[in-house]
Amino acid sequence: MPNAPQPTSTLVTGGAGFIGSAVVRELLRRTDGPVVVLDALTYAGGRDNLPDDPRVVLVEADVADPAAVAHAFAAHAPARVLHLAAESHVDRSIDGPLAFVRTNVVGTATLLEAARAHHAGLEGAPRRAFRFVHVSTDEVFGSLGDEGAFTPASPYDPRSPYSASKAGSDHLARAWQHTFGLPVVVTNCSNNYGPRQHPEKLIPHMVLRALAGDPLPVYGRGLNVRDWLHVDDHARGLVDAALHGAPGATYLFGGGAERTNLDVVRTLCALLDDRQPEGAPHEELVAFVTDRPGHDHRYAIDASSAKAGLGWAPARTFEEGLAETVDWYLAHADWVRRRVGAEGLRRLGTVGGGASGGASGAGGAA
Ligand SMILES: NC(=O)c1ccc[n+]([C@@H]2O[C@H](COP(=O)([O-])OP(=O)(O)OC[C@H]3O[C@@H](n4cnc5c(N)ncnc54)[C@H](O)[C@@H]3O)[C@@H](O)[C@H]2O)c1
Repeated sequence: MPNAPQPTSTLVTGGAGFIGSAVVRELLRRTDGPVVVLDALTYAGGRDNLPDDPRVVLVEADVADPAAVAHAFAAHAPARVLHLAAESHVDRSIDGPLAFVRTNVVGTATLLEAARAHHAGLEGAPRRAFRFVHVSTDEVFGSLGDEGAFTPASPYDPRSPYSASKAGSDHLARAWQHTFGLPVVVTNCSNNYGPRQHPEKLIPHMVLRALAGDPLPVYGRGLNVRDWLHVDDHARGLVDAALHGAPGATYLFGGGAERTNLDVVRTLCALLDDRQPEGAPHEELVAFVTDRPGHDHRYAIDASSAKAGLGWAPARTFEEGLAETVDWYLAHADWVRRRVGAEGLRRLGTVGGGASGGASGAGGAA
């Protein structure tokens, strides 16, 4: 009997989004087979995020649609799956939580079921090599005080509809590992930044408002702390996890770059003063606004699980990555226009939809 063809493709859900498209580029560099992107192309995803490469195949489908997902597995027989499709913006989860439950919880369960059926049909080396990488966030662990950092042993304590839906999806992924033997790897990471991040998120939001001379709305006193990770460092770690991760393992990725939101905004202003001196000093645009409801104080990652298990460490410093990111937004006005559209950059997630204390915008990082 002839040998069955060996699976070579990688399935990336959410591959047309910010982190997913960085994963697609990393896979093109490090694997040989097709990279199949399953993405519903919501407001957050775009074909223009995907590299123009014949190995990239876009399947426009909803991850919560069982028939479409089963069809993608049957048609492309992936050697591995990286699951990034999600509703990802905390402020939107305050305005409309059910979309988060549907995509992040029901969508993950739908994908796990299809992966389980696919994995059951694999034999030998492809079965041993198959991995389902479930991509999650450090927000599932809740908020830290001024000391300490999250580890894989940190208890779950999600506080927003976004982080609760991601926590639910992490539990489902681990349940499919324990109950059905699906080789699941769970990753949790800190705040990402870099090119192609949707303008609703803190860094691009502030850059674009500062360029327009609009107020820079910083939530509360701007003292919430986030640990910033460059998206390409994260994508490298996720592909490491897909190629070398141990089934059942959890890896935490962090940038080792803790900054208050106000520090981030001030650094951005200094970078823009250099590049657009006519608007300087951009820092004068900072306007403190009413805090996000339930805003977590601090997130920080102890990345030793990724270092020990995958040999991973971040390569970029925050300062060099941030400067490159600002330059990318300055050079991609068309990309920005396609994202911002007629709606502009408005404040989301205030509970009750108003009384936000002044300037509109999105002054919180995840
Ligand atoms: N951005 C961060 O800082 C960060 C940090 C930690 C974890 N994460 C996680 O990483 C993943 C990717 O985040 P991102 O920032 O790239 O998000 P993003 O919002 O930029 O992209 C999400 C992608 O998923 C797609 N999508 C949304 N709903 C879908 C559905 N029902 N079916 C199929 N596709 C759908 C969108 O079209 C988009 O392409 C998410 O799972 C997120 O929770 C992100």
